[in-house]
Amino acid sequence: TGTPAPEAALLGFSAIATSVADTIVVPEGYSYQVFIPWGTPITGSYPSFSVNNSGADQAEQIGMHHDGMHFFPIEGQDPFEGSSTDGLLVLNHEYVEPRFMHASHAGQALGSGGVIVAGDGTRNTDEVLKEMNAHGISIVRVRKGMDNRWSVQPDMLNRRITALTPMELHGPVRGSSFVRTLYSPTGTLTRGTLNNCAHGVTPWNTYMFSEENWAGYFRNGGDNPREHARYGVNASPTGRGRYAWELAASGEDQYVRFDASIKTADATGDYRNEPNCFGWMCEVDPFDPDSVPKKRTALGRFAHEGVVFAPAAEGRPVVCYSGDDSTFQYIYKFVSADSYNAATASGSLLDNGILYVARFNSDGTGEWLPLVYGQNGLTPDNGFTSQADVLVNTRLAADRVGGTPMDRPEWGAVDPANGDVYFTLTNNSARNTASENDPNPRVTNRHGHIIRWAEAGGDHSATSFEWDMFLLAGDGGESGQVNLTGRDLNGQVLGQEAYMSSPDGLWIDRDSRIWIQTDIGESSQNTGVFEIFGNNQMFAANPQTGEIRRFLVGPVGQEITGVITTPDQRTMFINVQHPGATTSPAQWAAGEATSSWPDNDLFNYPPRSATVVIWKNDGGVIGS
Ligand code: FEO
Ligand code: CA
Ligand code: CA
Ligand code: CA
Repeated sequence: TGTPAPEAALLGFSAIATSVADTIVVPEGYSYQVFIPWGTPITGSYPSFSVNNSGADQAEQIGMHHDGMHFFPIEGQDPFEGSSTDGLLVLNHEYVEPRFMHASHAGQALGSGGVIVAGDGTRNTDEVLKEMNAHGISIVRVRKGMDNRWSVQPDMLNRRITALTPMELHGPVRGSSFVRTLYSPTGTLTRGTLNNCAHGVTPWNTYMFSEENWAGYFRNGGDNPREHARYGVNASPTGRGRYAWELAASGEDQYVRFDASIKTADATGDYRNEPNCFGWMCEVDPFDPDSVPKKRTALGRFAHEGVVFAPAAEGRPVVCYSGDDSTFQYIYKFVSADSYNAATASGSLLDNGILYVARFNSDGTGEWLPLVYGQNGLTPDNGFTSQADVLVNTRLAADRVGGTPMDRPEWGAVDPANGDVYFTLTNNSARNTASENDPNPRVTNRHGHIIRWAEAGGDHSATSFEWDMFLLAGDGGESGQVNLTGRDLNGQVLGQEAYMSSPDGLWIDRDSRIWIQTDIGESSQNTGVFEIFGNNQMFAANPQTGEIRRFLVGPVGQEITGVITTPDQRTMFINVQHPGATTSPAQWAAGEATSSWPDNDLFNYPPRSATVVIWKNDGGVIGS
């Protein structure tokens, strides 16, 4: 890495127009294949997809709502050097849409969470199980065959990790009173992972998956300790979890635990601590099918969008960045206490170090503020009793030390050429004149922006940095409103080839092409000030010139998320998440949907999230 490609070659395709069609659109000279849609069999008895699949079937199939993703060359080597035709595709499944999952839901007017609660106040247990097994991550061996077509390979490494998979807690929170539960009275284990949005890849070639909007899966009945309250666990006395899993008819512990109001006589273990076992970055070695996934608590607890690692340097700390995707939340970085050594590096490097929160000053400088127990007011006087407490309550600690509340930090990326760090800030309609500031400069920020910074001295472990604005997303001036008008790095109004709203997914390839993916929410897509943008899409940008070109537009109702190429950059994988999410309850009750992608057969197939494989017909580098 290191040397940027010649500028002329960086973006070599012709930008495409916006689209509202229920299909994938790619530039002239490119082709694509829809791959591993929700329900594709990958393990066990390889059950084929049907809306009648059971909860057990789902545990052997690709999950729902594909998100962050990485391609691991099968040799498990440096991702720039390994196979480009054979590897493990590892991807997250963020959440589920029950109305598309269960035969019983077809044609039904569904209530909160899109689920059916019976007259006796219970949910069908197998439907709950199926929803839990559609969460998590998939590890699947994939191989390139004739005509650029990829296929799933039966393999011992194929694996599902779900909302039920046993996982270990590691780092300072392990064993603390915050995470002792009936399931694990010692506070060392927990069950499953939830709402896995973006991902990360460690310098030692393992996969990390985030836990973003986990809080909504729980209720606490109004017993609302600060480690629930600051994250928004439902505290209504009559509230339910997102999908009411706690109401599963069987009454088994693995479901009932989502009711965090339930107390036991034994104070060492009850359900009140279940929500504290979520909100972490998790790690798994995809090449070890027996490995127990680990939650790395030193990286903090919040609505983790994902994590991006700085390039590892021998003898230097390991550094990674992570955003908390909620309005007015923060950007963090972790710096390991121990140094990186390529021969011995492992996930234990992530268990000991300092978590910092970013403060962006108005003069273009910034500082990293440590979240260390006993420092900067993180003391018993202010309610903090230990480093475990600081980490379980990361948001409160960041509030206390004075981080800069941002407009929903989503993905980050590091430019391999110069180490610049980029973060998408997707939108924040609640930003107002009182909270407006230079790093979040627009009142009612509906279209979002991308900020970037350079660490002092080019050292990712530095405690200061200099930042600037890479992009103000928005329209091409058509609205006539300054806060809705997009501007590039040079302050130029965006042309039709570049205008966009709500940047979310972000990745920088080895030539320093910046890939930007959008997520206009389903309630806003193709309406009002968002109409001009059409369906959600993906762009490529040049970090030197600020030039941006639209590369792909997806079908109706989805967001584009997840992006990686093979090492040779000749195959790209992206994800289409929640096609048809714009379908209204009335439409669904009438047997209709806004999208039938990708099967075009609504009678047999609901709209399905899927991966899309993209290649250049001349065999060239994607984007060149
Ligand atoms: Fe799951 Fe912040 O996107
Ligand atoms: Ca996202
Ligand atoms: Ca989303
Ligand atoms: Ca988003």
